[in-house]
Amino acid sequence: MLIKRPDDIQPSEITPRSVFRDRRRFMRDTAGLAAAMLGGTLLGSRTASALATDKDARGPRIEGVVESSYRVDDELTPYSDITSYNNFYEFGTDKRDPALYGGDFTPRPWTVKVLGECEKPGEYDYEDVVKPHRLEERIYRLRCVEAWSMVIPWVGIPLADVLRRFAPTSRARYVAFRTVFRPDEMRGQHRPILDWPYVEGLRIDEAMHPLSLLTVGLYGEVLPNQNGAPIRLVVPWKYGFKSIKSIAAIEFTEKQPPTSWNRAAPREYGFYSNVNPEVSHPRWSQRRERRIGELFKRDTLMFNGYADQVADLYAGMDLKASY
Ligand code: MTE
Repeated sequence: MLIKRPDDIQPSEITPRSVFRDRRRFMRDTAGLAAAMLGGTLLGSRTASALATDKDARGPRIEGVVESSYRVDDELTPYSDITSYNNFYEFGTDKRDPALYGGDFTPRPWTVKVLGECEKPGEYDYEDVVKPHRLEERIYRLRCVEAWSMVIPWVGIPLADVLRRFAPTSRARYVAFRTVFRPDEMRGQHRPILDWPYVEGLRIDEAMHPLSLLTVGLYGEVLPNQNGAPIRLVVPWKYGFKSIKSIAAIEFTEKQPPTSWNRAAPREYGFYSNVNPEVSHPRWSQRRERRIGELFKRDTLMFNGYADQVADLYAGMDLKASY
C-alpha cells in the first residue's frame, strides 16, 4: 500500500491548516484591499504579481516571466502549502519528508540527457534546455490520485517547444522521462519503495500538447527542491504522479515506456492516468476531491477541468480500459 488512501489522510493534516490559512488569507486580502483602495486600483489579488508580496515566498525570483493566458480562476493554494505538503518518494513517503530532507539535494549544476528516436541526442546543460525559451507563468490545477488538489502558479516553458529542438524522428511515438538516482542525497532511495530511479512517460501527442509544461519555478521563484528542482513536468489533466520531478533524462521511444507507479501496482495505475471521476481507483472513488485549505470536498472534473482542450487526444479510446 504505497499511496495513502484519501481516508488515511488524518484530518489533522488538513483541518487545522485550513483554519489557520483562512485566517491568514483574510488578513492578506484585507491588507490587499486596503492597498488597492489607497492606490485607487482594482484588486487583482490572485495574480502572481500579488504573490511577490506573499511573505511566505522565499526562493530566488526568476526574471522576465510573462503571464500566459493559461490560468484557471480558482483561488491559489498558498506557497507554504505547496512547498510543505508534497509527494516526492525519493525523500520519503510522508508528505512532510520532501521539505524536511530535500535540503540535501543539489540541483545545480544539472544536465539533461536526451536520447532515443531524435536527431539531436546529447547531454544538455540545464541552461541550454531552458535559456532559449521565454518563461511563462501558468496557473494550473493539480489533482493528486489521492483525491486532494491544489492550484499552483507555475513558471515554465511549453514542453513541445523544448522537445522540437531535439528533432524527434517519425518513429518517436512516446517520450520517456527519468529522475536521478542519488541515494546519498535522496534518503528514500535507500529503501525499495519504488523501483528507482522514478520514471514516467507520455504519448508524443500528449507531450506536444500546449498544456504540457516543463517547469522551473512556482510563485515567480525558482522551484524548491521538494517541488522537483531544477526542472520537472506538469501535465495538468493527469493525476499528479505523471508530473515527474527533477528530470535528468528524456528519451524518445517507439514503444510505450514503463512508468514507476504502473510497475509498482499495475492494477491501480495505468499508463494514461487521466483525471477521470467516472473511473474509480480500485480502493477509492475519484468522484470528489479535497482542495488543500478547504473544508468541504468538491466534485472532480473530467480531465481535471481541461476536457475542452484535451478530450480530442483520446477520441475513440475506452477510458475505462485505458486508465
Ligand atoms: N516525481 C518524482 N521524481 N518522485 C515522486 O515521488 N511524486 C509525484 C509527482 N512527481 C513524485 C514525482 C506525485 S504522486 C505528485 S502528486 C506530484 O509529484 C506532487 O507534486 P508537488 O509536490 O509539487 O505538488
